[in-house]
Amino acid sequence: MEKQEIRTFGRRHGKKLSARQNGLVENLLPTLKPASGDILEIGFGAGEHVRDLARANPEKIIVGAEPFMNGVASLLSAITDEKTNRVMDEYKNIRIWADDVRDFLRTTDSKFEQIWVLHPDPWPKARHEKRRLLSADFLNLLSKYLTNNGEIIIGTDHWEYFDWILEQIKSTNLTATIPNMEIIQTRYQHKNKAGTTAPKYLILTN
Ligand SMILES: C[S@@+](CC[C@H](N)C(=O)[O-])C[C@H]1O[C@@H](n2cnc3c(N)ncnc32)[C@H](O)[C@@H]1O
Repeated sequence: MEKQEIRTFGRRHGKKLSARQNGLVENLLPTLKPASGDILEIGFGAGEHVRDLARANPEKIIVGAEPFMNGVASLLSAITDEKTNRVMDEYKNIRIWADDVRDFLRTTDSKFEQIWVLHPDPWPKARHEKRRLLSADFLNLLSKYLTNNGEIIIGTDHWEYFDWILEQIKSTNLTATIPNMEIIQTRYQHKNKAGTTAPKYLILTN
């Protein structure tokens, strides 16, 4: 029997979606299902950074994975024209997997130049630690989906999780560098629940 995967995310549904959002989820979302891509963002939240990636890399296909439907609906609203509900030109390269990224990875043989994970759920209680997404096993899995010079780029303001990830990396073949970088503020970063002064970033390569 296949091993049951531990759930790494919290709720899938929050407050009721608007009528426009419901329409987008029903009609547009199925047309944006990814088959392959060049850049992957895991757990995009409301999708601010996915949109940034799409604008910065118009020639690349950006795949975003997120099981929280309110986040998916926020991204769908933000990439479409309010009157026509059509995807705006600058976001035509976005594809959305509205579920656990591990299920997407099982369906694709894509290799990604970049895999972004921004503010993964920190699961701070010791009894929830097994829910942390960026375990050695998962990082090993991601490493198989990188192009030759591909990078896994991680950002978190939860410094204890950051140190935990560094420990996990020791059980992988990945090489870590700690870059000095700044990117747009996502919704979760804005909340800064960890109360730290800034996010820390990691770049992992094969
Ligand atoms: C703390 S939130 C951060 C969201 C966003 N990156 C930001 O910075 O605002 C972490 C997100 O990761 C998503 N997530 C957790 N496990 C995931 C998985 N296995 N596949 C895809 N997304 C996942 C959660 O649903 C949640 O929205």
